[in-house]
Amino acid sequence: MPDRQNVYVPEYFMNESYRCWAEIDRRALRHNAKVVRDRIGAAELLAVVKANAYGHGLVGVAEALEKDAKLFGVANLEEAIQLRAALPHPIMILGPALPQEIATIAEGGFIPTISSFEEAGEFNRVARDGPISINFKIDTGMGRMGVPESEALDVFQKLPALLNIKIHSISTHLPVSNEDANYTREQLQRFGKIVKQLRAAVPGDFKAHVLQSAGALAFSDPLFDIVRAGIMLYGISPLLEFQKLLKPVMTWKTRIALVRDIAEGKFHQLWPNLHNSSKDADRHVISWLRRWIPMAPFQS
Ligand SMILES: Cc1ncc(COP(=O)(O)O)c(C=O)c1O
Repeated sequence: MPDRQNVYVPEYFMNESYRCWAEIDRRALRHNAKVVRDRIGAAELLAVVKANAYGHGLVGVAEALEKDAKLFGVANLEEAIQLRAALPHPIMILGPALPQEIATIAEGGFIPTISSFEEAGEFNRVARDGPISINFKIDTGMGRMGVPESEALDVFQKLPALLNIKIHSISTHLPVSNEDANYTREQLQRFGKIVKQLRAAVPGDFKAHVLQSAGALAFSDPLFDIVRAGIMLYGISPLLEFQKLLKPVMTWKTRIALVRDIAEGKFHQLWPNLHNSSKDADRHVISWLRRWIPMAPFQS
């Protein structure tokens, strides 16, 4: 039996008749968060719980990490609202806002990620209750979000004219930190230089962040002010050499639904790889997990 205090089952699996479900180990989550915290010293941990906490259950994970994380990172407004109902932490929306979401993001006090001056202008326009904190993202190589690196200084210098905007942080993302260490080091240096330029041009107390899991594990000098850890919190290291530091968080379980004896030479219609080439009847445990992950047959 799972230890209920430390293990939870995400809501969408909580149905007595489900054949397979996942159990999430809160202790393992906290262990992995501690691994991050031990590596990042005084920097703030932004726990990335986007995409339903990588499938582990947004609110369950965030609640388990409420003492470890200084702030949380979600994919979109919908996740931000769901999380806000459970916890008071600052919430950064890592994905781009849809135009129709801008007013609600502002009202909710979430931290949107901005990729252009125009986008910042939209937030400035809808602000009602004081300035809106933004994450100013710079594209230094990912090619996904952010102001292009070559325009970052120009755009950033225009932001103080937007009186309803407060710069919470400046950030970028590492696209190949688990594949190309040289590129990553060079990218980090470039980002470091840009941060200095922006700070010199627009003085303020805003923070800088770039490191995700691979960054926190292998490229943590310098750390900058916030570390956005995702996959390693869930027990998976993007770099194999650090895997031993982490504990698996999710256990996928299945009920045994049927036990069948399959005679020599017969095979199962649904799973042709359940082929019995031995002389004796093989006993196969038909579980529902196997519908999802085809692999070598279970045998008893
Ligand atoms: C902007 C941003 N930062 C950080 C992360 C966390 O990355 P990782 O799961 O590799 O730690 C993600 C995840 O995709 C992300 O989109």
